[in-house]
Amino acid sequence: MGKVIAIANQKGGVGKTTTSVNLSASLAAMNKKVLLIDYDPQASTTTSLGIHRQSLKNTIEKVVIGDANIKKSAVHVKDMSLDIIPTTIELSHLGMKVRSTELDEMYILRQRIEDIKNDYDYILIDCPPSLGFLTLSALHASDSVLVPVQCQYLAIDGLTQLLNTVHSVQKNLKVNHYQLSIEGVLITMLDKRSKAGWQIVHELKEYFQDGVFDTIITTNVAVQNAPTYGIPVTKYAPKSVASKLYKSLAKEIIKRNATQKV
Ligand SMILES: Nc1ncnc2c1ncn2[C@@H]1O[C@H](COP(=O)(O)OP(=O)(O)OP(=O)(O)O)[C@@H](O)[C@H]1O
Ligand SMILES: [Mg+2]
Repeated sequence: MGKVIAIANQKGGVGKTTTSVNLSASLAAMNKKVLLIDYDPQASTTTSLGIHRQSLKNTIEKVVIGDANIKKSAVHVKDMSLDIIPTTIELSHLGMKVRSTELDEMYILRQRIEDIKNDYDYILIDCPPSLGFLTLSALHASDSVLVPVQCQYLAIDGLTQLLNTVHSVQKNLKVNHYQLSIEGVLITMLDKRSKAGWQIVHELKEYFQDGVFDTIITTNVAVQNAPTYGIPVTKYAPKSVASKLYKSLAKEIIKRNATQKV
């Protein structure tokens, strides 16, 4: 049974998509079967993996509204044990569309993923920068949430809101005997030369204790360039520091989950 991890933070530009793409690729490189769901209408994950809008048949939006089968919608990413369910801007209307159906809207994504869970070791969901319907339904579909936090001034700001949301989803899920845990807080875009940056790392570790991953993603040009070529940094620059950091993150996650059946 695959583990479903939502990559979420309502703050924009903190590294959700970069984490989703490169963590998925790193887990895949470690012989895990991985599915990445692009659940952000900006479709950055879809384009970062070289999938063009023109070539899309099925999307996560069609899957959720019932117009496409989830198994048939997973697109294989070349040369990797990685599949992706892509998206388009159409996903932004999903909330309105599902509200007009009879189904319990928050659980539709969960129900769809249920059909494919056995086919993968990890299923990652890249969430949009909001705490609206998309992120909420992703949290209702997940076993855990990974929170990327950009290493900058006021990093902790806004996290309380996210954690409150996670707690209320946990309560909802409990009623149905489901659980949502916090996979961890991932510090991203640390400028290693910045004293202020290390101070923020210190503050985040003090605040979240063991909840912070040991791996810290530093700023790296290769990370920024890789999406232009439609490949993860692990393929674009396999020997780069960034590539090693995402592998180290993948190892941490595999280790953290070793006691659970994934
Ligand atoms: N380690 C890094 N070093 C340098 N640049 C980075 C790094 N990680 C991410 N970036 C850049 O920061 C920007 C934001 O990253 P990303 O798109 O992953 O954030 P996001 O949280 O998904 O954004 P959004 O909220 O809009 O979905 C991108 O231009 C990305 O290339
Ligand atoms: Mg994004």
